[in-house]
Amino acid sequence: MRIVLVGPPGAGKGTQAQYLAKNLSIPHISTGDLFRANISQGTALGKQAQEYMNAGQLVPDAVTIGMATDRLQQPDAEGGFLLDGFPRNLGQAEALDGYLADKGVKLDAVLDLEVPEDEVVKRIAGRRICRNDSSHVFHVSYTPPKAAGVCDKCGGELYQRDDDSEDTVRKRLEVYHSETEPIIDFYKAQELVVTISALGTVEEVTRRAMEALGRPA
Ligand code: AP5
Ligand code: ZN
Repeated sequence: MRIVLVGPPGAGKGTQAQYLAKNLSIPHISTGDLFRANISQGTALGKQAQEYMNAGQLVPDAVTIGMATDRLQQPDAEGGFLLDGFPRNLGQAEALDGYLADKGVKLDAVLDLEVPEDEVVKRIAGRRICRNDSSHVFHVSYTPPKAAGVCDKCGGELYQRDDDSEDTVRKRLEVYHSETEPIIDFYKAQELVVTISALGTVEEVTRRAMEALGRPA
């Protein structure tokens, strides 16, 4: 399956993507994780992205679209993928459509995670991620690691993301409403959107998502 995951910052996209990708045997491709990996490796791309991310703004399309399509070219994404955090504006959505049309393939679904803003703020405030791999995500009270401050998956140190400060989160939410939400209508016109509530436990949301994708357990 070829799936795009959308939802506000802190909706649980990365958390759900891990389980959905595993259940559907497709790679989880997160542009946020790709940027963070570039930042921790000190690459030129990471240096370009960092100032935008810390300000809660979108990294320019010229950088983002190239990085995302390079990743989509990898052999593991040939049979399907779960995109998390891309596309994030209309320009990116159009670029993805063009890329897929060139390959003669189409998206199967756009899974839209709905969460009230007060819940998103609580989820982000308690989020801790791993220094070794930003896809290892915990929450201090909702999904705590076994040992405080230590990643269950690899033993890495857990920390709070630089862009999870109150001011930056407010900016990210604003950018979500103005730039990312319009892609939902763009995909509604293609009859691809399935909207689910992302409230409840992680397991409940995964179950709901699998059902919405037509793959109930
Ligand atoms: P990105 O990393 O994509 O961040 P985001 O979209 O803001 O989303 P988050 O990672 O904040 O949240 P999430 O929905 O994945 O939630 P999570 O699963 O962690 O992007 C960061 C930045 O990179 C952007 O601001 C931009 O600058 C740049 N960027 C990235 N892609 C770009 C693009 N395409 N174009 C331009 N710029 C781009 O969950 C949140 C917390 O809640 C966790 O602690 C988790 O444990 C907890 N939780 C999850 N599910 C539940 C549940 N059901 N119940 C209780 N707690 C839960
Ligand atoms: Zn880890």
